[in-house]
Amino acid sequence: MAKKRGQWLVTLGHSSFRGFYRGTRGRGKAPVARLGVLVTRRVPASATALLRQIADVEMPETALTHDALRQRIAGKNALMCLMIDRIDAAVLDAAGPSLKIVANIAVGYDNIDVVAAHARGVTVTNTPDVLTGATAEFTWALILAITRRIAEGDRLVRRGDWKGWALDFMVGTELQGKQLGIVGAGRIGRAVAARADAFGMRVVLHDDAPTEIESRFRFVPFDELLNTSDVVSLHVPLGPKTRHLIDRKALARMKRTAYLINTARGPVVDEEALVWALGERLIAGAALDVYEREPQVQAGLLTLENIVLTPHLGSATRETRTAMTELAARNVVAVLSGQSALTPVAN
Ligand code: DGY
Repeated sequence: MAKKRGQWLVTLGHSSFRGFYRGTRGRGKAPVARLGVLVTRRVPASATALLRQIADVEMPETALTHDALRQRIAGKNALMCLMIDRIDAAVLDAAGPSLKIVANIAVGYDNIDVVAAHARGVTVTNTPDVLTGATAEFTWALILAITRRIAEGDRLVRRGDWKGWALDFMVGTELQGKQLGIVGAGRIGRAVAARADAFGMRVVLHDDAPTEIESRFRFVPFDELLNTSDVVSLHVPLGPKTRHLIDRKALARMKRTAYLINTARGPVVDEEALVWALGERLIAGAALDVYEREPQVQAGLLTLENIVLTPHLGSATRETRTAMTELAARNVVAVLSGQSALTPVAN
């Protein structure tokens, strides 16, 4: 950061910008009030360093309630938040007209009322791309964990119930030659598909509105995907059309030998229906990383053996979480400096 003719010139990545201090040509003039950014949780220092070049950063030590968030955001110019923060009209109104950007540290943004934000002239950004690889890898970890009974085997060993090797003991299902059905052909869905060759699986995709057709893979209607796939993996954003996309009817359409994987958003799956389908052995198993009411997990799921449950870890690598936070910070810096957001979301 260099001082130039009474202004601060800030260099961040490719972008240079200036102007958060009023010119100091008049000798002794104090700089005007700094911009203010509220960050709802502790984030890596590399991200706050970016923000601090242009603004004062408020970052509470502990999680903010919705009420506390409304109090803390008053008069701020930017909000950097997590997918567990509900950013609704009340929060936006509490911020007032100074708020220019809500930067979500997540690719999904169903926690934000984007229409209300845009109506108030507030830019909303997310963190696509940087988490694609980590989430795709994690999806494969879940596919392997459920089909090869890894979590179940781990529980058994820890309980001291392992009596020794046997030919028919805890046999699972092989992936080689099977069909992977991917619902949602966005970045993450396609990244999961791209890794299927390594396991000898063929891929079919379903997407209501595909943005890019990967000709290597076959697009099929939703029902056909459910009827014919050995593993069904969900990669759709949460919205009115995808809430409970996987309900009793959808589960009943799946093969009895099939597995359901969800690393997208919890409410895409009707958890009660899933408990029923697993209990009735209408499908072979499921692996969930996301839940309808996080961090609560439907009690019926906890007692089943044919399910793997992880606590929303899809993007949870050190590298990716740092990259997500830095991208959110870069979005804040860009917008507060009068530039376009790097990764804005549309209505
Ligand atoms: C996202 O980015 O939407 C993830 O769910 C957070 O890990």
